[in-house]
Amino acid sequence: MEIRVYRNEKEIGEAAGKIICSLVNEKPDCVLGFATGASPVPVYEYLTEQYNEGKVSFKDITTFNLDEYCELPKNHKNSYYTFMQENLFGKIDVNPGKINFLDGNADEATESKRYARAIEESGGIDIQILGIGRNGHIAFNEPGAEFTDEAWKVTLTQSTIDANSKYFDDIPMPRHAMTMGIGSIMKSKKIILIATGHAKAEAVKNMINGPVTPLCPASILQQHKDVIIMLDEAAANLL
Ligand code: GLP
Repeated sequence: MEIRVYRNEKEIGEAAGKIICSLVNEKPDCVLGFATGASPVPVYEYLTEQYNEGKVSFKDITTFNLDEYCELPKNHKNSYYTFMQENLFGKIDVNPGKINFLDGNADEATESKRYARAIEESGGIDIQILGIGRNGHIAFNEPGAEFTDEAWKVTLTQSTIDANSKYFDDIPMPRHAMTMGIGSIMKSKKIILIATGHAKAEAVKNMINGPVTPLCPASILQQHKDVIIMLDEAAANLL
């Protein structure tokens, strides 16, 4: 694991964004894995800026998002699909036909197979962006008894509900989500995990210095050969 500490979120956005842009310029049809949540937003801002300045085009990329809520229509304002439209996809020249999302309302087993096959047929994810939950979850892989392989339907924990329900002002936050499994995430060729703020410090410490255990799902990243962890000072505080 390569740990990098930055002064602020903007610097993280630039650093991760530069890695993505150089891959896209070198391999225009690369496969990018995107995450939702506040952590990657500065990266999406950087990518949008670079696109607006004519320095990169995303027209040939394929994308896979990590997760999606169940019990929510795709176009609901709180869906992760809408989040990506508003924060990135609606602002750049990505081909809508090459955007891949899990369907939170589909049959779990069928959807899991479909997503695994789609990732494989694309050639695999070149760079996967990740955030981390306060309890060490990645995507929506909550702490549990074992690591999961492919996409599955998860029951969200109280910690995640507490962290994310602030975004739901009209309906209660869904209690379930479909998420890419740990196995699929680990198959990504390169992973960039972003964590900022004090609330993430404990999870970051467990991810980097703790044992590899499904009780802290992010700890599995210790076994990946190309992971960059990008932190601000607050998130790195307990290292
Ligand atoms: C959600 C997402 C994760 C994300 C996490 C942290 O649970 N499913 O992919 O990493 O939130 O979000 P934030 O970056 O807003 O703290």
